[in-house]
Amino acid sequence: MFLKKIACFHISDPKLYSLWLLATCVLSGCAPEELTYRSNELHFASLSQESTPQQIVESALFAQNSVLELFGTPDSPKWPDGITKAVDLEKVMRSAGPVGRNQAKVERGLYRKHCIQCHGTSGDGKGPVSALLAPYPRDFRRGSFKFKSTPIGKKPTHADLVRTLENGLPGTAMPAFRSLKLSKDFAEDIDALVHYVRFLAIRGEVERRLLTAIANEVDWTELPLQIAAKVADSWVAADSFSIEPPKLSPASTSADKSAALERGKTVFLSELTACSKCHGIAGDGKGMSQDFDDWTKDWTIRAGIDPTKKAEWKSMKKFGALKPVIDSSRNMTLGAFRGGGNREDIYLRIVLGIEGSPMPAIARKENDNPGVTEEGIRDLVEYIYSLSDAGANSAQSN
Ligand code: HEC
Ligand code: HEC
Repeated sequence: MFLKKIACFHISDPKLYSLWLLATCVLSGCAPEELTYRSNELHFASLSQESTPQQIVESALFAQNSVLELFGTPDSPKWPDGITKAVDLEKVMRSAGPVGRNQAKVERGLYRKHCIQCHGTSGDGKGPVSALLAPYPRDFRRGSFKFKSTPIGKKPTHADLVRTLENGLPGTAMPAFRSLKLSKDFAEDIDALVHYVRFLAIRGEVERRLLTAIANEVDWTELPLQIAAKVADSWVAADSFSIEPPKLSPASTSADKSAALERGKTVFLSELTACSKCHGIAGDGKGMSQDFDDWTKDWTIRAGIDPTKKAEWKSMKKFGALKPVIDSSRNMTLGAFRGGGNREDIYLRIVLGIEGSPMPAIARKENDNPGVTEEGIRDLVEYIYSLSDAGANSAQSN
């Protein structure tokens, strides 16, 4: 019961938010949680199960130190020389470090004030309250993000992350910072925070790739900088993969509207899309999918550990693993769409899929390949949109 309450907990009121900041400050002694980035023991443990705990800790520390040379510490982050500038270091420094103001009275330490409770100092998704939340806060270190305008396997754009921070992720604990009135420099604050999310994601992914190299006994010379250059480039390239959804609106006559909904329903129930297999015939999330997300599969299934068997996964707890939780298919009748509830948002989710989750990108009809046509996708969006109150109310008012 208690856990259920926490799972639905979502702060959207500025007063409640001040209380939350105070409470988490008291909980963590009003001091920064830690001044170092935590090493990624879990990743190495999952790659090298024959290693002893001592060897795992040592390898993780070794990678952490290499990354420290490139990216610095939470109090003084830096950017490696000679690679693409995928972040603005000034902005990174505004978000990192201790909470306070600089001489020009500009607020600093934004990440430590607003994000570490959930995302942790290292961006590993393991802040002091994380274990109580469902879904768990994002671990940025896989460099993988769900709600974006780019295909699976590509980084989100800067604008995608700005949107997530401003609007939050409805139905999860991730707050909508737009409504929390951070400060009068709101747009700059969000911009600086996004630069820091990118920084933490890049730093974390470089560390992960180094650990993979260590586990595979790859030659080390100059490796950290080469990896950092690759990861930084992948972030800079994101914009070129971004797609713009078409402007979507309901049909103008009610006969056309019902015809579109009928067609959309057929697409939803079809074998080809399998939407209803996961989301249930009624779209209420009661389908058959019992799958986990990639953040969980990464240290369980990939490592030969069954996430449904505690006897198998519990040995990973000492390296920082949280209890595996099923990534359930969305109940679309609630109208809480994490990536946004406009038709255009729903279109992007369907066309691109949700990276890191079991939700695939739809098969599109191309040449002779079987798949759903562009019109079919638009009908499907209309149908999904109509399943929730938000959609139903707006369909009436249209
Ligand atoms: C009360 C807890 C909480 C706080 C505070 C919080 N987040 Fe989150 N955040 C979450 C949760 C939970 C998710 C994961 C939701 C999901 O998996 O769908 C998340 C996801 C994210 C994502 C990933 C979005 C994606 O597309 O995958 C980003 C980026 C993010 N948060 C940034 C931030 C930043 C920056 C701050 C501080 C300004 C912050 N969060 C504060 C709970 C929180
Ligand atoms: C293999 C199972 C699976 C299939 C097939 C599937 N989904 Fe999903 N879907 C999911 C899961 C799991 C989530 C939740 C992902 C998350 O946020 O972690 C989801 C989320 C969604 C969302 C919510 C997006 C948001 O912003 O919150 C929509 C809309 C959606 N799916 C529509 C569809 C449609 C339409 C189809 C068919 C074309 C489909 N899904 C097929 C598993 C599936």
